Amino acid sequence: MKKAAYTDRVRYNCGDAALAPGFIGKCKWPAGVKFLDLEPRRGLMRMDEPLKLEGRYKNYGGGIIFKQGRDNMPLPLMPDRKTGVAVRTITSRRQLCELYASTQDVFHKGAGKKYITADQLKASALFRRTVLVNRVKGGVAIKGGKPVGMIAGLKRWIPLVSQYARFITWVWLDRELRGPQRAAAKAGLLKWLKENSGTVLMSHVHIFNQRSQRFFLDLGFKPVRVRFYRV
Ligand SMILES: CC(C)(COP(=O)(O)OP(=O)(O)OC[C@H]1O[C@@H](n2cnc3c(N)ncnc32)[C@H](O)[C@@H]1OP(=O)(O)O)[C@@H](O)C(=O)NCCC(=O)NCCS
Repeated sequence: MKKAAYTDRVRYNCGDAALAPGFIGKCKWPAGVKFLDLEPRRGLMRMDEPLKLEGRYKNYGGGIIFKQGRDNMPLPLMPDRKTGVAVRTITSRRQLCELYASTQDVFHKGAGKKYITADQLKASALFRRTVLVNRVKGGVAIKGGKPVGMIAGLKRWIPLVSQYARFITWVWLDRELRGPQRAAAKAGLLKWLKENSGTVLMSHVHIFNQRSQRFFLDLGFKPVRVRFYRV
């Protein structure tokens, strides 16, 4: 690994080794520096399984920026029986903002409560007031007239990869939705994503969010940055 200089972070370039929390111990990360970033030496980093911060790493938090080519993303199979789930573009900005905020609030106040920092919550509130209300596009899965899933994001210039990408800012599937209905909602939303994106897809996932890491790994996403911080 090779260290590169920066201000509020130390950055190391990762070679071909699969990502593991053990990297934290191998890097020089002074107590006063906020972030430890791992970035690939070239291209993408290897990650075979969701990254876990537990045991001796339980006092660290972190996030992963993932990337995948739209045309390389496998689409899960649509169940062959009727499920009553339909996916469409959200045409009402108000509906988009309400569904986005209400489902994300459950996540922020529930599973994410311990891990999402005050700065991240502030950034999320600012994002909702400025970007969400103007530029985010989303697809929704409906069953029985009720939303049961959504995926949303926007086209953005991403300096980290010097490319435009469709940055997926939120994905949600109702936890009550199971079996073929869940599979239909997921397949439909991913098909919608493919049809409504440019060639590069990206996302950010908190490391504690194992379900979301798995979701993106199963779709062939690979990390382009892993950021650790002390909690
Ligand atoms: C991330 C997410 C979209 C992934 O959905 P997914 O690919 O279906 O994967 P999940 O882990 O949620 O579900 C896998 C299985 O576990 C089940 N499951 C999901 N939540 C469960 C829970 N709390 N308890 C028990 N089982 C659960 C699902 O029903 C599914 O089983 P099935 O396929 O047999 O129906 C979904 O977990 C979600 O909406 N999470 C909350 C929002 C979130 O974290 N968004 C990502 C932000 S980056």
